Amino acid sequence: MSEPLVLGIETSCDETGVGIVRGTTLLADEVATSVDQHARFGGVVPEVASRAHLEAMVPTIERACSKAGVKLADVDAIAVTSGPGLAGALLVGVASAKALAIGLNKPIYGVNHLAAHVCVDQLEHGYLDKPSVAMLVSGGHSSLLLVPDITGDVIPLGQTIDDAAGEAFDKVARVLGLPFPGGPYIDEAAKSGDPAAIDFPRGLTSAKDLAKHRFDVSFSGLKTAVARWVELEKQKGNQIMVNDVAASFQEAVVDVLLRKAIDACVTNEVSTLVIGGGVAANSRLRVVAQERCAEKKINLRIPRPGLCTDNGAMVAALGSELVRQGCKPSSIEFGTDSAMDVRTVFEG
Ligand code: KG4
Ligand code: ZN
Repeated sequence: MSEPLVLGIETSCDETGVGIVRGTTLLADEVATSVDQHARFGGVVPEVASRAHLEAMVPTIERACSKAGVKLADVDAIAVTSGPGLAGALLVGVASAKALAIGLNKPIYGVNHLAAHVCVDQLEHGYLDKPSVAMLVSGGHSSLLLVPDITGDVIPLGQTIDDAAGEAFDKVARVLGLPFPGGPYIDEAAKSGDPAAIDFPRGLTSAKDLAKHRFDVSFSGLKTAVARWVELEKQKGNQIMVNDVAASFQEAVVDVLLRKAIDACVTNEVSTLVIGGGVAANSRLRVVAQERCAEKKINLRIPRPGLCTDNGAMVAALGSELVRQGCKPSSIEFGTDSAMDVRTVFEG
């Protein structure tokens, strides 16, 4: 029997993503984004995002089917992000997926967005090693996870105690007058900046902090340090060297994230590190991760940048893995859970 054909729908934030996979082979990954509609507000406006999902849903499903060369009737299972994320946005995806599942009489899986960010790597690098350490760095989350099995055994090791990594990128970009979402713009500006220009603080890395927060991260102090530095320079009448500030800030984030991730691998005697989520698209993070993992003989897996930011393929990838492992589909009554716990991989 051929591997199952799974369609995944993602609408947790401002991207309407529809992905189609067969087993671990990616057939289509179509994304419609409403980011331009939020840019002038400096952040995602939930109601605007929900409406945009409604408008984009059917055309995005149609584009994905046409790209994959499949008909909806050929699909073996539907997967959809049921949390965490914006409640109204999630609702559009879950209602659409349920309509498809009922109309086509196919099983449905309501899946965790965070686990999907980790599982998507299977589309590029094959099945995950068991166990792996996963670092999930996105706009809403920063977590270090021990993952014996991505379909049901996900153990949190640490997380952010304030801002998420992506949130820090977005807030610092704002301070520097760069557009929203800030991550890609800081990444670009930093390429021509000096990462050693300013010695920004590395949160939760002192011996005292490590005793209590070994695998946790904190970016709020760093964000404030950048804002204060910029303010002081302005008061002195100095021109702000945006590229140097961006590079120095980015270096601090990358340094802390990787120190913690590698420590988690070494401490837990795990030899594979998977990095996922929007911040995993960061070019400097990818380079430094490669260097540091090579030093410690850790096998590093990061999906290509387009699969790091929100997309439907990641949801399809997790759905496909659930089917492969024989997990029972979700009951059609499942709802959305905007604060879904990372340990809940899918709706039972
Ligand atoms: O995973 P994602 O697409 O959405 C959430 O689940 O939150 O992550 C979005 C976050 C944003 O904060 C964005 O600024 C950040 O990922 N991001 C980046 C880069 N590309 C996206 N951060 C740093 N460097 C990048 N190249
Ligand atoms: Zn995400």
